[in-house]
Amino acid sequence: MRYLAYLLISLQLYVGLQCQTLPAEIKKCHYGDGKCLVESTNALLRNYPKGIPEVSLKPFNVVPVRDWLLVNDSQVGGAWYFFELLNQINYGFENTTITEILGFDRDPTSSKIEIHGKIPRLVYKGDYLAKGRMLWFVDINSHGTSESDFLNFRFGLTLKVRIEYRNNKRYLKIYQLVPNIRLDRWIMWLDNFFPDNYDLTIAINNLFNRNWVEFWNELEPGILPLFETVFLGMIEDLFEKVPYDDLYPKGIPVLGLKPIEIVDIKDFKIWKDVDIGAVWFKFRMYDQQNYGFENTTITEFKGFGRDPTSSLVEIHGEIPRLVHKGKYVVNGKILFIETNSMGESVSDFQNFKFFLKLKVLIEYRNNKRYLRVHQLEPRLKLDR
Ligand SMILES: *[C@@H]1O[C@H](CO)[C@@H](O)[C@H](O)[C@H]1NC(C)=O
Ligand SMILES: *[C@@H]1O[C@H](CO)[C@@H](O)[C@H](O)[C@H]1NC(C)=O
Ligand SMILES: *[C@@H]1O[C@H](CO)[C@@H](O)[C@H](O)[C@H]1NC(C)=O
Repeated sequence: MRYLAYLLISLQLYVGLQCQTLPAEIKKCHYGDGKCLVESTNALLRNYPKGIPEVSLKPFNVVPVRDWLLVNDSQVGGAWYFFELLNQINYGFENTTITEILGFDRDPTSSKIEIHGKIPRLVYKGDYLAKGRMLWFVDINSHGTSESDFLNFRFGLTLKVRIEYRNNKRYLKIYQLVPNIRLDRWIMWLDNFFPDNYDLTIAINNLFNRNWVEFWNELEPGILPLFETVFLGMIEDLFEKVPYDDLYPKGIPVLGLKPIEIVDIKDFKIWKDVDIGAVWFKFRMYDQQNYGFENTTITEFKGFGRDPTSSLVEIHGEIPRLVHKGKYVVNGKILFIETNSMGESVSDFQNFKFFLKLKVLIEYRNNKRYLRVHQLEPRLKLDR
């Protein structure tokens, strides 16, 4: 029984988490459940347009864009062009609707990851620098402010990822992101394009906007890598900071901030370490894992009031089948027979009922209240 108690404590039912997680009100999904991921991501975009600094999720409503050299022809001949975008800010990502998410399975490297979405209006504002020569004699040397509006902007991102382990946790590392973009219209305004001639500035802007499709086709190869850095910049840090499995903490709604399908158990020792006489043994279990917590039904919650320390907190629940797998080593002597064995152990607990009594403390960090379990007293019942 003590061993089972240990097992439950290692469920780590504490809310004051050591690692960063997404806010609890964002619905948690199963691995690879694209429909759920779409809903959760959209909820995240709607509810947190300014990002979530705690998990390095940057704001969506104002996205700084790195300076970008869009055209750099070699400066020879009768027509060449140099065009650079500077100090650009991207507006409108907060209005993104994610339409489809594929992949993100338990093993995220096993299948293709795709994210599709649309944005009614994506705006780029900043400065530009243009130089060039048109028709052998018109020299351009201008700079000013620019604004681009991309209307009904639809994107598909294909990601290639690998897993990196840090502190025994899996982190997703994106090593390739390929964007695919379609839009209904591109409206651009370059201020001050001909500093001495406002009419000509208007004319060139009109020329551009009438022929935006040609410009888009011409410039798309240079713009796609720009969008690549923008999209990557938005999600890279999240994956860098939040362990992949913590993005999927399904389970107990209030406490379910950890993935509970597989619960790693701390190595466990039972020492009875008197090496004289007929009985002594050392028993050590390691690489222990539990399966079946995902099928937990919580039957009762008590406590968890506004002041959670004011009353006893209790959680009751049942698990139809809890499987505990791991390796063990035993050395010892039982009735003069020496044992020295190791192997794998599987325990199967059926209709496993638990009653947890918790004593909790409140900890303040950054002016927020965190719950810390300082005592957990489990009672267990099983059929078999
Ligand atoms: C533009 O290209 C030329 C070579 O064609 C290169 O020397 C120059 O550094 C480039 N400009 C920038 C700003 O990268
Ligand atoms: C995003 O949507 C809001 C609400 O509809 C709107 O006010 C805002 O202008 C939109 N952002 C952009 C950049 O179009
Ligand atoms: C949890 O429930 C699912 C669906 O009923 C089942 O396939 C799975 O084997 C269960 N897990 C365990 C460890 O019994």
